[in-house]
Amino acid sequence: MVPRFSRPLLYITRGGIFLVGGVKVNFQAANRIKKMPVNFFAELDQQIAAVNVKTRNVIDLSKGNPDIPTPNHIVESLKDAVSKKENQKYTPFKGKEGFRKAIQNFYQRQYNAQIDVNREIAIFHGAVVGINAVPQVLLDPGDYVITTDPCYPEYETTVSLAGGRIYKLPLLQTNGYLPDYAQIPNEILAKAKILLLNYPNNPTGAVASASFFASSLSFAREKNLLLVNDFAYASLGFDKAPVSLMSCPGAKENALEIYTLSKTYSMAGWRVGFAVGNASVIEALNKYLAHGHSTVFGAVQDAASTALNSSQESSVEIKEEYQKRRNLLVSGLRKLNWSVEMTAGTFFVWVKIPVEYTSVSFAKLLLEKAQVAVAPGSGFGKYGEGYIRISLVCELEKLEEVLQRLKILKLKEGF
Ligand SMILES: Cc1ncc(COP(=O)(O)O)c(C=O)c1O
Repeated sequence: MVPRFSRPLLYITRGGIFLVGGVKVNFQAANRIKKMPVNFFAELDQQIAAVNVKTRNVIDLSKGNPDIPTPNHIVESLKDAVSKKENQKYTPFKGKEGFRKAIQNFYQRQYNAQIDVNREIAIFHGAVVGINAVPQVLLDPGDYVITTDPCYPEYETTVSLAGGRIYKLPLLQTNGYLPDYAQIPNEILAKAKILLLNYPNNPTGAVASASFFASSLSFAREKNLLLVNDFAYASLGFDKAPVSLMSCPGAKENALEIYTLSKTYSMAGWRVGFAVGNASVIEALNKYLAHGHSTVFGAVQDAASTALNSSQESSVEIKEEYQKRRNLLVSGLRKLNWSVEMTAGTFFVWVKIPVEYTSVSFAKLLLEKAQVAVAPGSGFGKYGEGYIRISLVCELEKLEEVLQRLKILKLKEGF
């Protein structure tokens, strides 16, 4: 590596002459960082910011950042927990016992699933950390993770960082956005270690049934794969409650579920999540997390325990608010003759676009002509082409305004 030197800067002020920065060296990033897929949404952010600077009028529905406040009893619990001496020290690597017990009870109450408090729980700073950790502990260079297309873009990055490869199964409307395992070539299966699913699904909004999970479990068992469900939208099933993979018989033999408090309790900024399931994977995860990420702030764990242990009324209220928004947006778009399904879960609406546009050009049109920012489907994979994803993370009045702006835009009818 040949470092590039930039010139030091000399500043002459009334206070004297200063050398700022000394000699700067531009270090080359490691290959694994260079190989990381580019962030599709970073460019979109710049476009949104540029339009907003001009108009100050953009309604941003391109991201999944919850806008509803964290329920008050959880915030109050954090305030109390901060002043506790035990929380000002390092907490146990495996997480506080109270939090692990809260997780165990929560899974028992919500999903009728039995989780061993000592051997089947790993705690981390939000689902993203867990999603990154699983490939790190299971993949050797060249091993495959099988996932879906479209999918949450982070999956590609985590597999790449772990030196693995990714194989994606299309999610099609005709299949209810569920993958068809028969399509996986034998040579991929021979090198695959993980089957990574995400139901309720970002970006399509599809939910999975218990029978789909049961057949996924037996497929994974037969092919010696760890089945992982990213359950980030666990509480956001509108017409029926989403199924937990852990409630399926035998799941702990070869499966793991990743849970986060980000969406269930609007705690995205708090950074807390956990995995439950197969004890051997949990053991490897706990080893990796202790070295790579250390511990989660004890006060956050206490407040997270309050969230899991208390009545789930506030989480139901959060879901009901998103449900109202979904109903308003979907029925409004249908009145404009847009082709859109009634989203079953998550806080996204997956919308088919007119054939004469790409998902990027259609998102650009909405941004420039209506100052409405949405996510182009192709950012989630090639089978996301032909769609946009609209987030439900703004109040009903704002969504009414979105519909008004789209009405004025007068797109071709009936696409
Ligand atoms: C499918 C999916 N998994 C995980 C996450 C991240 O969750 P966390 O905030 O717990 O890191 C998101 C966030 O948008 C998501 O959509």
